[in-house]
Amino acid sequence: MTTRIGESNGTSAALSTASLDGAALRNDFPIFRNAEVGGRPLTFLDSAASSQKPQAVIDALRDYYETSNANIHRGVYHLSEIATAQYEEARKRIARFLNAASPRECIFVRGTTEGINLVASSWGRANLTPGDLIVYTEMEHHSNIIPWQLIAGQTGARIAWVPMTPDGLLDREAFTALMAQGPKVLALTHVGNALGTVNPVKELIAEAHAAGAVVVLDGAQSVPHMPIDVQDLDCDFLAFSGHKMLGPMGSGVLYGKRALLDAMPPYQGGGSMIRTVELTHTTWADVPAKFEAGTPSVGDAVALTRALDYLEALGMDAVWAHEREIGAYAVARLSEVPGLTIYGPAKMDHRSGVISFGLGDLHPHDVATLLDEQNIAVRAGHHCAQPVMRALDVMATTRASFYLYNDRDDVDRLVAGLHHAIRTMGGGGVWAGFAARAVPQSEAAGA
Ligand SMILES: Cc1ncc(COP(=O)(O)O)c(C=O)c1O
Repeated sequence: MTTRIGESNGTSAALSTASLDGAALRNDFPIFRNAEVGGRPLTFLDSAASSQKPQAVIDALRDYYETSNANIHRGVYHLSEIATAQYEEARKRIARFLNAASPRECIFVRGTTEGINLVASSWGRANLTPGDLIVYTEMEHHSNIIPWQLIAGQTGARIAWVPMTPDGLLDREAFTALMAQGPKVLALTHVGNALGTVNPVKELIAEAHAAGAVVVLDGAQSVPHMPIDVQDLDCDFLAFSGHKMLGPMGSGVLYGKRALLDAMPPYQGGGSMIRTVELTHTTWADVPAKFEAGTPSVGDAVALTRALDYLEALGMDAVWAHEREIGAYAVARLSEVPGLTIYGPAKMDHRSGVISFGLGDLHPHDVATLLDEQNIAVRAGHHCAQPVMRALDVMATTRASFYLYNDRDDVDRLVAGLHHAIRTMGGGGVWAGFAARAVPQSEAAGA
């Protein structure tokens, strides 16, 4: 059974009550009409890196520049007031999407990387002293590791990390043991980008708070895909990227609890973040302006809200269910491919729509290149998660990631593409003896 949902939200496709209709939703995304190669449709399986953009978001961006563009917060003229109002409306829209207690808790940044750097630098400078403990995990993206290493170097804080279990989950015993050491801060990814592990963040946050830690959640791979309620999660900070959730490149948000943001020093100095400037010293504007030095990316913030409209019209529960359903189908189908090893959690309960795999002894870059010849876009490399690759004892993996516009046909094309890659590389005979398998990384890594 299908229901049609409102075109006012830019979603013109049919929505199945059981799951989304990925093929119909692709009609809302012009790239799928424009990126056919040699008659082959684009099979886009790299949304974990950056999602495609629906027409509604592209229109919103153009509309902003055609009708409302001016610098904000500074002009007394009409156009500047319109742009300012749209920018502040966008902040309110984001606060509602996250269920933040106030729009002031939502700071516009360029993406997850900038959001985490802001916290590590500003909160870290104000709160970390020599010997204090920073805890992150082995499954973090580099952008939730390096900012902490930088601030540790500047403050003399110590670093420890929670290792992964053999099947790509967080080691809960190690986590509890580290919390017993009373860390000042826990930097934690909600969903891992390399293996797609979904962490039980609500219980981890509660445990970290009981230990006295401030929790910085990396929402880059969760906010675009599932319902998020920051008050329910009780995270202290949450960073995410608009470009991974149908929004423009260069858009992103840092959520932070008001009391923490109020107490933090500015991250960058410049226009818009001040109350008064003397030649000898400066006083700061209130949040969020204190953390938004310089001219912000107004059009991107405005267009991001159209992405939120689009997602909420589908329903974040439905988006999440759809991706997990395709993920489960992909795990089953990929397991039929000779010589293919799926890394990460064995149970679908612990997985998002991100699947990392190896194919015999083919280099992931070769696999991705052979798939690209069939207009199938996957990512190959270390996925900015070198510690994860080290734990797997591999240099790189091939990663397919699914979003609302994917469907089972995309998975079938991927599987056919992999068979083609095997034939091209002459692997048919060599790998005939390989059992198809989905194995925990322990086995893959020989641990
Ligand atoms: C888990 C995770 N954190 C952080 C980032 C960095 O995001 P951005 O490059 O948009 O700042 C990514 C990007 O892939 C990610 O997957």
